[in-house]
Amino acid sequence: MKAMLCEAYGPPEDMRLTDIPPLKAGPGQVVISVKACGVNFPDALMIQDKYQFKSALPFAPGGEVAGIVKEAGDGVHNLKAGDRVAATIRSGGFAEEALAEAQRCIHVPKSVDYDVASSFIVTYGTSYHALKDRAHLKSGEKLVVLGAAGGVGIAAVELGALMGAHVIAGASTPEKVAFAKAHGAIDGFVYPPVPLSKDQQKALSEEIKRLTGGEGADVLYDPVGDDYAEPALRAMAWQGRYLVIGFAAGAIPRVPLNLALLKGCDIVGVFWGVATARNPKGAFADLEQLARWIAEGKLKPQVSETFSLQHAGRAIRMLMDRKALGKVVVTME
Ligand SMILES: NC(=O)c1ccc[n+]([C@@H]2O[C@H](COP(=O)([O-])OP(=O)(O)OC[C@H]3O[C@@H](n4cnc5c(N)ncnc54)[C@H](OP(=O)(O)O)[C@@H]3O)[C@@H](O)[C@H]2O)c1
Repeated sequence: MKAMLCEAYGPPEDMRLTDIPPLKAGPGQVVISVKACGVNFPDALMIQDKYQFKSALPFAPGGEVAGIVKEAGDGVHNLKAGDRVAATIRSGGFAEEALAEAQRCIHVPKSVDYDVASSFIVTYGTSYHALKDRAHLKSGEKLVVLGAAGGVGIAAVELGALMGAHVIAGASTPEKVAFAKAHGAIDGFVYPPVPLSKDQQKALSEEIKRLTGGEGADVLYDPVGDDYAEPALRAMAWQGRYLVIGFAAGAIPRVPLNLALLKGCDIVGVFWGVATARNPKGAFADLEQLARWIAEGKLKPQVSETFSLQHAGRAIRMLMDRKALGKVVVTME
């Protein structure tokens, strides 16, 4: 079978399409004939050896897949060959076959396409956990989402709107803000590229306060970090919740903690992968809920680009170049 392998840490252009032996399911595992693999920012970090989890070289990146169960290992009772499934795997999705733990697979309704099924678990799973379990977002609250047209960002916009929040989207271009508005944001703002001058940081805080009626954000969803974090924290409402999601803009920010004191606000860490490992039943229930909402058309995960396995490197490059709107997917056919 074919796999797009990272053989040495480096840029996506260095990956190579290679023939490797077919996979065998171990106890509790299934082999999935991959139809589609969703691309996430951690894929870009993993091939550069910048992610907190390492995969031994050589490896195929790709942490979430959808396809058909080819073979179930010993002790697997919930799945059989032929089932349509989606699953998270740490890596291995840029390949015609992938190994998944059976307990991390969910059934995919026939009405949901493989490319959509391969691209919602990580982003919508993260954002649902963040908004529901970590921020306790309430209907009517003001939710500000940075990086709002990216994978986790657009999921936060859609879920926030579904949960009844007043969603305000921040992104780097007017096109991205318009995309977030088409997915449920009521208002939006464009922010400049890093590094931000002190004046630009002040203007960003003021813009968020203005768009939240002077009160500030009840919940702020931050997958970008870097110079955006401190001005965003300065624009929190009293007893707001600032969600630390990731640092796509580059640097891990250092923020003055007196801001949390002055606003009586929480700075809340979100780590969906570990949360799901610690509470697999809760995570499974969340994913089933998300799949139901997608099947009912209440959530509409947007796949804006698909690439063949041969061009999978271009999919990662799109994320690294900040070009993606919603999700980018690698398909096997
Ligand atoms: N905490 C968790 O459990 C968890 C789970 C999944 C992902 N994450 C993290 O969330 C972040 C976003 O992941 P994703 O898969 O949604 O990525 P994505 O689809 O590439 O979106 C990232 C967004 O970040 C913004 N960005 C700002 N500076 C950037 C830069 N220099 N390069 C690339 N993007 C930049 C871009 O929006 P603008 O151009 O509009 O700024 C982009 O839309 C990553 O840091 C990832 O590791 C965390």
